[in-house]
Amino acid sequence: MKLFDVYPINNINIVKAEGSWVWDNKGTKYLDMYGGHAVISIGHIHPHWVKRIEEQLHKIAFYSNSVEIPIQKELAAKLGEVSGKKEYQLFLCNSGAEANENAMKLASFHTGRKKIVAFSKAFHGRTSLAVAATDNKNIVAPVNETDNIVFLPFNDEQALKEYFKNHGDKVAAVIIEAIQGVGGITVATDNFLRIIRNLCTEYGAVFIADEVQCGYGRTGKFFAADWAGVEADIYTMAKGMGNGFPVGGIFIAPHIKPKHGMLGTTFGGAHLACVASLAVLEVIDKEELMQNADEQGKYLMNMLKEMESLQNIRGKGLMIGFDVPDELKEVRKILLKEQHVFTGEAKPSVVRLLPALSIKKNEIDEFLNKLQLVIDEIKTSALISDLHNAE
Ligand SMILES: Cc1ncc(COP(=O)(O)O)c(C=O)c1O
Repeated sequence: MKLFDVYPINNINIVKAEGSWVWDNKGTKYLDMYGGHAVISIGHIHPHWVKRIEEQLHKIAFYSNSVEIPIQKELAAKLGEVSGKKEYQLFLCNSGAEANENAMKLASFHTGRKKIVAFSKAFHGRTSLAVAATDNKNIVAPVNETDNIVFLPFNDEQALKEYFKNHGDKVAAVIIEAIQGVGGITVATDNFLRIIRNLCTEYGAVFIADEVQCGYGRTGKFFAADWAGVEADIYTMAKGMGNGFPVGGIFIAPHIKPKHGMLGTTFGGAHLACVASLAVLEVIDKEELMQNADEQGKYLMNMLKEMESLQNIRGKGLMIGFDVPDELKEVRKILLKEQHVFTGEAKPSVVRLLPALSIKKNEIDEFLNKLQLVIDEIKTSALISDLHNAE
């Protein structure tokens, strides 16, 4: 059997990882400034995470949600403590798309309404409602198309107010990434998030903060929306939650009441998933990784701003993006091939940095040196080719 060929892949076989580093099967060491797609929060193969999972494996890995699973309550308590949102309720699932799917479904159950407001360049996942709320026609199948999702321009306060004025009584939810990831590291303004909060409260709609990529400590606060001083009704999470173990979840505000059978999953909240998530939170807490994300993120951002060739450096904490001019469009490829550094991208010309929250200053310096080397190399070869052409 062949694999279903949906991913454009690099010809690299990663066989070992530690902290912010990974190694291929030939022994080449790579710096991971991409965090395995924003998933690695506490660093690859953190010893505490390994130990916790290993210990749990010898007890029980899984039993269904039809029995008491005390470790789910332990996880909920720790999440409440680390996020500061103790009064919220927790529903566990397995991925970011599933978290958003459940969030939008729950908003519709809660309000009895159908319309969901999403924004230009949003990415919320690939399952039915999540992909319908994703602003990329190429990944929406005909069966996913629905009039229930409305796209408004990101950060456009007037358009949002106007929509609510005319249709507010039909809106079940507004879903937004406080920092768009796949869309190219675009930061929602604090005021835009506050207006969403106010309109949702005024019209009885549910404010869903998709924190799958920007949340879980990545920006230096637990949720990126926390920077605006607003509270969402539902927060969705996944990527950093298990440090590579597939876990997703949603925080649900106390005024949204549960009913048996309303939501459900076979695998969500399994013993092994909970222990992986608990281990992540314990490390975030003990090693003060949110503070590290804030400090190292500021340092990285400031240093990038000093580099002449990069444009529009933006983001928060360790979620950083910048544009590269056309002459440097090969920078990511060369960084990977010659300097052995993984970075992320957003089309057409954004470089996305999403390293582990545990990254150290000397690792950031190493990245910056390598980036400068690649930029210099591209510029020198462009100069040489110009000279040849002029001869
Ligand atoms: C903001 C956001 N929401 C949802 C998702 C979907 O998550 P998953 O791939 O785990 O389904 C992603 C994935 O990149 C994301 O960035």
